Amino acid sequence: MSNASPSSQSHQPANRDNDRDPSRLRSSRWFGPDDMRSFGHRSRLKAMGFDDVDYQDRPVVAILNTWSELNTCHSHFRERSDSVRRGILQSGGFPVEVPVMSLGEMMMKPTTMLYRNLLAMEVEEVLRCHPIDAAVLMGGCDKTVPAMLMGAISADIPSVFFPAGPMLKGLWKTETLGSGSDVWKYWDERMAGNLCDADWKCIENCIARSAGTCMTMGTASTMACVAEAMGMTLPGAACIPAVMADHQRLAVQTGRTAVEMAWANRKPSDVLNQQSVENGVKASLAIGGSTNAIVHLIAIAGRLGVSLTLDDFDSFSRTTPVLADIRPGGQFLMEDFYEAGGLPALLSQMTDLLHTDCKTITGGTLADQIQDQEVINDQVIRSRDNPVSDIGGTCVLKGNLAPSGCVIKSIAADPKLLHHRGPALVFDNYPEMKAKLHDEDLQVDENSVLVLRSAGPLGAPGFPEWGMLPLPKKLLQKGVRDMVRISDARMSGTSYGTCVLHIAPESAVGGPLAWIETGDMIEINVQQRTIHWDISDEERQRRQAAKPVNPPVPSRGYGQLYAKHVTQADQGCDFDFLVGRSPGLEPGIH
Ligand code: FES
Repeated sequence: MSNASPSSQSHQPANRDNDRDPSRLRSSRWFGPDDMRSFGHRSRLKAMGFDDVDYQDRPVVAILNTWSELNTCHSHFRERSDSVRRGILQSGGFPVEVPVMSLGEMMMKPTTMLYRNLLAMEVEEVLRCHPIDAAVLMGGCDKTVPAMLMGAISADIPSVFFPAGPMLKGLWKTETLGSGSDVWKYWDERMAGNLCDADWKCIENCIARSAGTCMTMGTASTMACVAEAMGMTLPGAACIPAVMADHQRLAVQTGRTAVEMAWANRKPSDVLNQQSVENGVKASLAIGGSTNAIVHLIAIAGRLGVSLTLDDFDSFSRTTPVLADIRPGGQFLMEDFYEAGGLPALLSQMTDLLHTDCKTITGGTLADQIQDQEVINDQVIRSRDNPVSDIGGTCVLKGNLAPSGCVIKSIAADPKLLHHRGPALVFDNYPEMKAKLHDEDLQVDENSVLVLRSAGPLGAPGFPEWGMLPLPKKLLQKGVRDMVRISDARMSGTSYGTCVLHIAPESAVGGPLAWIETGDMIEINVQQRTIHWDISDEERQRRQAAKPVNPPVPSRGYGQLYAKHVTQADQGCDFDFLVGRSPGLEPGIH
């Protein structure tokens, strides 16, 4: 077994000792009673070929599988669910595979973020309405991680997260490629005329060379690490590459663990609390993680009924060093991180910053998970006295352009631009930006501040990853590779550049971004955590009166539900009616 693999666990068959009294299982309410309804439940299992011995007195463990042929990152999940099933059987459970909505980042338009809360609701209700004693949550591609955690938290049924794992490194000639990050990089080179069509095609053929999630420290790997740091996965799970045998063994071990969790009735509310959320935040900062983690962590905290604000995040950022040297903020890729010891080794370098007494899904503590972990390669996982950065890689800015805050991934920005003042070049929406950006006559230079509005939770809608605005072709050809960009959008965790994101409130609900005009001066100062728009109160009021704002609300369906209830970026973009600890209502059994 490789460096960071979770340790092997002994299997325990189902039995009838006090700790394993089958009548205490939730599913016994469906299958146990000698009545007509339970007769129906049992007879229909028999219609599927199961005998009494298959399920009686055994925990029912659901494998919630986000496999789909349109989710490229989860293409190995059919095989992995078989491995999870094997582990459940080994420990005497009754496995049932339940498909749930798959949010594949690459294919869904306008953005998977539009559907994060829909998957969270589905997970919650699927767990609640079925005879399920424990669940294995199979996710990985960006939004599937927070969505499944949010749903499991609200259902509060024993659940363990099983991450898809990152892809292998991309390889092109002698270059190591990272999905996402190197797409942006080489696209800029192509636009600048430095990359021929044949090379571009070659990169397309080899940048994504296996199943799994993006292999930079994008949102998927960030959120998998967050889940692990919060105690919701087996130790070491977040970084194991998707196609390694270790990943298969992790699946089997996760199945076994789920059975143990069912017998122990170890629920998310037994594992997650304010301290474990703080561990998740600090882990996301120490790995130089995605800005999207802020939105998801605030939403997760909201489901737990614990407080997490942008100010909290910024304050943790000031005291948490970046220790993982992973792209897009650093040099290496997830495969290197795994071989260097993975998240357990990294967390072992910062125990003074963590709440190591937090419980995990194994029944032990975070301290148990990270003790005696060794850093194998200190270029990839830096020591505390040689960090990638002394402080966290993500900062929160506030000012008259973002009264409720905005974020910047400072570690992935050109340091020269972290304090910058320049004239705004404003695009009203994404199609306008696309149509005009590469116009030879566009009035723009490297000091301009590119501004995109109508890209937030309501404006786009769905809060898409448009925040890394492309650079104008004529500037790329002059050698410019970074500019200050400001929007109410998110950006991919694989993106980089001086991009100010998540401006709140967004323009669509009347945030200041709605009234900024081309030529207005903007100043950002990351060290001072400020963003300032030069405008007088009178001029601002004049513009507001001249152009009132009404957020778009679709006439029907999920889009309308979303528009009426989604919260702003600084509040996590959950639906307002889902925030707060769920009373955990059980369905009536009739
Ligand atoms: Fe799925 Fe990046 S596209 S993780």
